[in-house]
Amino acid sequence: MLNSYIYFGLASLASSALAQSSNAATYTNPILDGVGADPWVIKDGNIYYMTYTTSTNITILRSNSLTDWNNADAALAFAPPYGFPYSTDLWAPELHKIDGKWLIIFTADPNYDSPPPEIDAFCPFNCPAVYHRMFVLEGSGSDPFTSNYTMKGELNTFDQFAIDGTYFQHSSGLYHVYSCWYDAFSSWPAMLCITRLDDPWTVASNVTERQVISAPTNPWEQTPYGRAVNHRLASNEGPQQLTNKKTNQTFIIYSAARSDNRNYCLGQLELIGNDPMNPQDWRKNNDGCVFYQNPLEHAYGVGHASFTTSPDGSEDWIVYHGLETTSPGWGGRTIRTQKFTWNEDGSPKFPRPGYGPYAVPSGQNASMGMY
Ligand SMILES: *[C@@H]1O[C@H](CO)[C@@H](O)[C@H](O)[C@H]1NC(C)=O
Ligand SMILES: *[C@@H]1O[C@H](CO)[C@@H](O)[C@H](O)[C@H]1NC(C)=O
Ligand SMILES: *[C@@H]1O[C@H](CO)[C@@H](O)[C@H](O)[C@H]1NC(C)=O
Ligand SMILES: *[C@@H]1O[C@H](CO)[C@@H](O)[C@H](O)[C@H]1NC(C)=O
Ligand SMILES: *[C@@H]1O[C@H](CO)[C@@H](O)[C@H](O)[C@H]1NC(C)=O
Repeated sequence: MLNSYIYFGLASLASSALAQSSNAATYTNPILDGVGADPWVIKDGNIYYMTYTTSTNITILRSNSLTDWNNADAALAFAPPYGFPYSTDLWAPELHKIDGKWLIIFTADPNYDSPPPEIDAFCPFNCPAVYHRMFVLEGSGSDPFTSNYTMKGELNTFDQFAIDGTYFQHSSGLYHVYSCWYDAFSSWPAMLCITRLDDPWTVASNVTERQVISAPTNPWEQTPYGRAVNHRLASNEGPQQLTNKKTNQTFIIYSAARSDNRNYCLGQLELIGNDPMNPQDWRKNNDGCVFYQNPLEHAYGVGHASFTTSPDGSEDWIVYHGLETTSPGWGGRTIRTQKFTWNEDGSPKFPRPGYGPYAVPSGQNASMGMY
């Protein structure tokens, strides 16, 4: 197992550009130059950490500023050797702190997941993701940036497709919520499944106890919109827990439709009962996307979000990816952030996506130096 980390020598180029951006009262999107997808941001103390999909490894970025990642420090957390079930297509890594331990949960597959024809033949549609699974790394120390990460194993998804897994924390315990299929070969729809965990890498539920808490049944969750023919490309994925700290309402904000085109958007589930394993305890917002494309500002395909706060903790912020034109597909995604607020009913009130300039997060100011 490869547990090394390295620092990238970005610090020296950083200082002058950084001083400028930190002094500014505004910022613009994207917040990281170049292609970036599936961003995950977590704030620990006064420091923000970001992970996102690089496909080949898991890199942690570290910044004092939520709105400027071009000058961030970077550390390699994990680069898998060849020949393991998690060697290729490392997607959507998330860095969580659970019971004082740092954990990375991520998607991967053994060998660029191109199933041989005799496996593909079982699928009703072409099914290139048939071997995608979820894995967990544990950090060695209290600092996620300098920790060494060791493989704790695969999260049991019953030898079925699993991507974009996240942890859902509840008073009744810890859960794994991920994008799943009905069975090993169904290909689509991609839904949201939940299982109960004994610890961050040990699944307690068996396959019959696993529950589907959302399926892409609405026209806006299908591609093209309202697709009548079959479930090809209809997806629920990228689930994220979001709690309203004023009301204690708990939501899962997920991505719907298809990640390579303009219709990708965010949908919303709310836990209205006490048992996350009971599908009836989840209420889905069937009215439409809660965050979606804004053609007037050429912001398309906005999704795969995570949530954090301003440096002073007074504001809530969404970090997501999006496209600048309608046609670039996966290779055109960039990482953005915006402030959001809350509706009267306690649900999140997301802004219209765009590029700014927007006011920087509250408490982000000139005194914030870089490493
Ligand atoms: C991690 O992956 C990215 C994207 O493939 C690559 O640019 C970067 O060099 C890799 N980092 C290391 C340390 O291998
Ligand atoms: C990571 O591993 C290196 C090499 O074994 C060791 O020197 C270092 O102390 C470890 N760091 C942490 C935070 O565990
Ligand atoms: C799953 O667990 C339930 C409850 O413990 C049990 O009744 C059922 O037989 C188990 N199913 C399988 C497939 O193991
Ligand atoms: C939210 O939960 C906390 C901790 O259990 C509790 O102290 C608080 O009163 C709750 N707030 C509301 C509005 O229910
Ligand atoms: C921002 O500036 C204010 C007033 O100068 C200061 O009190 C605060 O600590 C600063 N915030 C940070 C995160 O540096």
